[in-house]
Amino acid sequence: MDTKTSNFADWQQDAMGAFEPFLVDACRNGLRGAPARLREAIESGLLSGGKRVRPSLALLGCEAAGGDLEAALPAAAAVEMIHAYSLIHDDIPCMDDDDIRRGHPAVHIEFGEWTAVLAGDALQAMAFRVLANQACTATGCRQAGCLAEAAGPRGMVGGQFLDMNSRGSQASYREVEKIHLGKTGALIEASIQMGVLAGGGNPDSWVQFSRSLGLLFQATDDILDVTAQESEIGKPTGRDKEEGKVTLVASEGLDGAIEKATSLAEASTRFLEDAQPLRRSAVLEDLVNYILQRCR
Ligand code: IPE
Ligand code: IPE
Ligand code: MG
Ligand code: MG
Ligand code: MG
Repeated sequence: MDTKTSNFADWQQDAMGAFEPFLVDACRNGLRGAPARLREAIESGLLSGGKRVRPSLALLGCEAAGGDLEAALPAAAAVEMIHAYSLIHDDIPCMDDDDIRRGHPAVHIEFGEWTAVLAGDALQAMAFRVLANQACTATGCRQAGCLAEAAGPRGMVGGQFLDMNSRGSQASYREVEKIHLGKTGALIEASIQMGVLAGGGNPDSWVQFSRSLGLLFQATDDILDVTAQESEIGKPTGRDKEEGKVTLVASEGLDGAIEKATSLAEASTRFLEDAQPLRRSAVLEDLVNYILQRCR
């Protein structure tokens, strides 16, 4: 791995060369002997595309803490499994009711609704299996605690509940922030924390960065729902308004949301500058920029 690059795309291309085969292996091992159609549904949700931002953050967190990227591969695979499960469930008719994901028919469209529910359930269990199978049980155990907290009722699922429950209401920025920190921020934070743990670092020092990055990530997602084409982002657009969702654009307007995203990116970058010298800080800075530029 080139240690000099400051470009996230270059870094990611290299890193995914290690990550994707690990993920495929972890997935296939977890699915051996499972019913064939369930297996296909799970592979469709997990292995057909995606930006792989969360695994990238786990691997970068590990490198920033001084570890080798390989040490964080289980954490990276585990968080992507939880993320894939969250997307499968997010798309089903009783939630956001979206038909396209990652440029393909959503899992419930291709495999039916109850199979999609079960595929998500299975991915959640598979994630913890990957963490439990690591050689270093102490790290695996701490990562499992971190991921369980982030995926659960005080994290992603809690945020998803608030997102669904607030439909049709007028929310303040504080309420939007609370939803975003749960449904999106929690897994972003856990990605970094698990990676830092794998690298032998202290995850507490990353809380502020994770928080602004998580909010930035959902801010650009909300903006893209209004400004992008389905062909660009691989999922239907204009859906938040149709579903009466509480989003950053709904509470702040499009210009206000872009302003907010810009200041969240600045806050993330400032953390990286203040934390110098930090391994991979240039790649992390470019990643912040990549997330912001998506909505520009
Ligand atoms: C989409 O996440 C759901 C959100 C939390 C905004 P991503 O934008 O990371 O989706 P993929 O993994 O690239 O498909
Ligand atoms: C989804 O947020 C967050 C999770 C899946 C946890 P959104 O509903 O905005 O994500 P998209 O726009 O469908 O990808
Ligand atoms: Mg949703
Ligand atoms: Mg959705
Ligand atoms: Mg969205």
